Amino acid sequence: MPKICVFPGDGIGPEVVREALAVLRTVEEVSGRRRFETEEELLGGAAYDVHKVPMTEKALALAKSADAVLLGAVGGPKWDPLPFEVRPERALLGLRKELGLFANLRPAKVHAPLLDASPLRRELVEGIDLMVVRELTGGIYFGEPRGVRVIDGVETGINTEIYTRPEIERVARVAFDLARKRSRRVTSVDKSNVLEATELWRRVVTEVHGREYKDVELSHMLVDNCAMQLIRRPKQFDVVVTTNLFGDILTDEASMITGSIGMLPSASLGGKVGLYEPIHGSAPDIAGKGVANPLATILSIAMMLKYSFDLPAEAALIEEAVERVLAGGFRTGDIFREGPGVRRVGTKEMGEKVREAIRKRP
Ligand code: IPM
Ligand code: MG
Repeated sequence: MPKICVFPGDGIGPEVVREALAVLRTVEEVSGRRRFETEEELLGGAAYDVHKVPMTEKALALAKSADAVLLGAVGGPKWDPLPFEVRPERALLGLRKELGLFANLRPAKVHAPLLDASPLRRELVEGIDLMVVRELTGGIYFGEPRGVRVIDGVETGINTEIYTRPEIERVARVAFDLARKRSRRVTSVDKSNVLEATELWRRVVTEVHGREYKDVELSHMLVDNCAMQLIRRPKQFDVVVTTNLFGDILTDEASMITGSIGMLPSASLGGKVGLYEPIHGSAPDIAGKGVANPLATILSIAMMLKYSFDLPAEAALIEEAVERVLAGGFRTGDIFREGPGVRRVGTKEMGEKVREAIRKRP
C-alpha cells in the first residue's frame, strides 16, 4: 500500500490537513482503485516545542521512505524570536533540499463562481489558468556565503544569489514539458539587466529551448515588469518559470488575482518523493477558529493523486467536486462576498461539502 507522510505543521495546518485527508478517504471509497497508508509526524514549530528542532531525524526519515508527503503549513509569531537555524521555516527548506524537490508547481486558476472575489475586474480574470514553475532548491535561499557578521567594524547581512547551468537546465525542462501539455507557451522571468546569475539563467533557458523545445514558444520578462503584467493582463501567461525568490513573490501575487491564496495548491517535484502543500501559510490569526479555507489543501491532494500516483481520474473527482461546491454557493470567509444563494461555512463544513459532492458525483 502506498504510504503518505503527513506533516500537519502549525497554525491552521492541522485543521486543513484533517479535511484534506478525510477527502482522500472518500476518494478511496468511491473509486475503490487504491488505498493509502498515512503516517503523521510533527514538523515546524510544533516539532520545536517538543524536540527543540523543527525537523527531527525521524521526521525526515519518514518523508524519505514515503511515496508522497502532505504538508499543512509551518511557522507563526510564537517562534519568530528563535535563532534562524531552528525556526519552523528551516524545516520546510530542509525538507525541500533533502528530498531534492527542485521544481515547485504552483497553478493559479480562476474558478468561475469566484470571479467576484478577485480584486481585479471580471474581464481581466475570467479564464485565468497559469502555472508558475518556481526553482526551489537553489538561488538566494540556499546560496553561500550567508549570514550576519561584523565586517570592518560594520554589521553586515549577506545572502548570495547563485545558479549553476545544470540547476537552470533541469527546471527549464520541467517548464517546457508542462507547456507541451498546455498551450505551449513559456515565459521565463529574471532580472538579467542587473543580476549576473539571472543573465546566465536567461542564456541557459534560451539554449535548452533552442536545442530541445522548438515546438514551444518562449519569451523572457524582467521580474518587475512581470509583477506589473500579472495585474495588467494576467491572461497573457501560460507557464511561467523563474528563480526561487522571484517565484516566491510572484506566486503570492498570482494567487491574489484568482481571489484568495486559500484556494491554491502546490506540488514540489524533482526527487523520488513529491511534496504537496497549500501555498498559503499557517495564518496564526485565524488558527483554531475553524474558519480557514481547506480547499487549497484538498486540491493539493488532487495534485498528489495526479503527479505521484498517476491517478488523474481520482484527481478530477476532487477538482470537479470543488467546482460544484463553489457553484453551490458555499464559501469560507476568505472568498465570501454577500450575494444571493451564497453561504458562509467553516473549515469542517467546507470539507464535508466536498466529500458529499464526491459521493454524489453526477
Ligand atoms: C512559500 C513560503 C516559504 C518560502 C517560507 C515559509 C519559507 O513563503 O512556500 O512560499 O519562502 O518558500
Ligand atoms: Mg511564499
